[in-house]
Parts: sequence; C-alpha cells; structure tokens
Amino acid sequence: MKTRLSPINVLSYCLLGCSLFAGAAHAADGDWKRGRVYYQKVCTDCHTAKAGGAIAPNSRTMADWTSYLKADKHAKGKESLKKYASKEYRVSVKATNKAAEKYADVPDEQLFNDIRTFMLKGAKDGDSPASCL
Ligand code: HEC
Repeated sequence: MKTRLSPINVLSYCLLGCSLFAGAAHAADGDWKRGRVYYQKVCTDCHTAKAGGAIAPNSRTMADWTSYLKADKHAKGKESLKKYASKEYRVSVKATNKAAEKYADVPDEQLFNDIRTFMLKGAKDGDSPASCL
C-alpha cells in the first residue's frame, strides 16, 4: 500500500521543523543573568584574589571575547577556561562559594554559554557594557 502525506502531516512536519529551529536559535542565546552572577561571584572572586584585580567585561570588544572564548585558553594560555565553568570546579568550591553551589547542577555547556552571553552583552561595544563587578 502506498502511503501519502496528508496536508495535515506536512503541516505538522513544518511546525516541528520550525520549533526545532527556534529552539536551536534560543539555545545559542544563553541566560545572561545567570552568566553575570557566575562571572561576578565565581570568576571575579578568584581574579580579585589571584589575578591582581577584577577583569571587566567592558575591557574588551565583542570580537575580542568571541575569539578569546573560542580559543579556550585561560590565564595567559596556561589552562582551559571551560574548566572554571565545569561542574567539577563548581562542586570543588561550592562549600565556600554560594553561586557555585546554586548552579552546581547546570550542564557545563549551558553555563559556559550563559557566561559567554553575559561577556558579549557586557563588552565595550556590547548591548550594555559592564564595568562594575
Ligand atoms: C581559581 C582562579 C580563577 C578562576 C575561578 C577564574 N580565573 Fe580567570 N584568571 C585567573 C588568573 C590567575 C588570571 C591571570 C593570569 C595572569 O595574568 O598571569 C586570570 C585571567 C583571566 C583573564 C585575562 C586573560 C587571560 O586569560 O590571561 C580572563 C578574561 C579571565 N581570567 C576570565 C575568566 C572567566 C570568564 C572565569 C570564569 C568562568 C575565570 N576567569 C575564572 C584565575 C581565575
């Protein structure tokens, strides 16, 4: 027996395709608020203690941050930056860091994307340049 696609099936395939597409577009746009909290409470905490001071998102442009994050080199290239957004790191400091504790269960890629979204938004030429940390 030959099966034919009824118009209603075609329509539902289209709708499915559109919602998958919208979902993908949305995933690339992280939760900048969560990224900001993490940046301020986890990244900056350590920078204040060990990097000679806070590193403001508005100290660089969106293009600078995009290539910095893509390269995934941190602290003058000594290590991976993703390590500091990882679950493993969050769990290791959660006893003394409330933000790390709060976001302990967020998947690594998702949290990294949130941080990236905040850094781009807060860049020198971003939507809302962020200096205060
Ligand atoms: C455990 C400490 C620590 C944590 C956590 C940390 N950093 Fe750093 N970071 C450093 C140190 C130390 C330097 C400075 C290295 C130097 O200048 O020699 C640095 C430097 C940087 C720099 C300047 C460029 C570079 O890589 O040298 C950026 C940007 C940066 N960190 C971003 C981040 C972000 C984003 C996070 C959070 C996801 C983060 N850091 C978490 C310690 C940390």
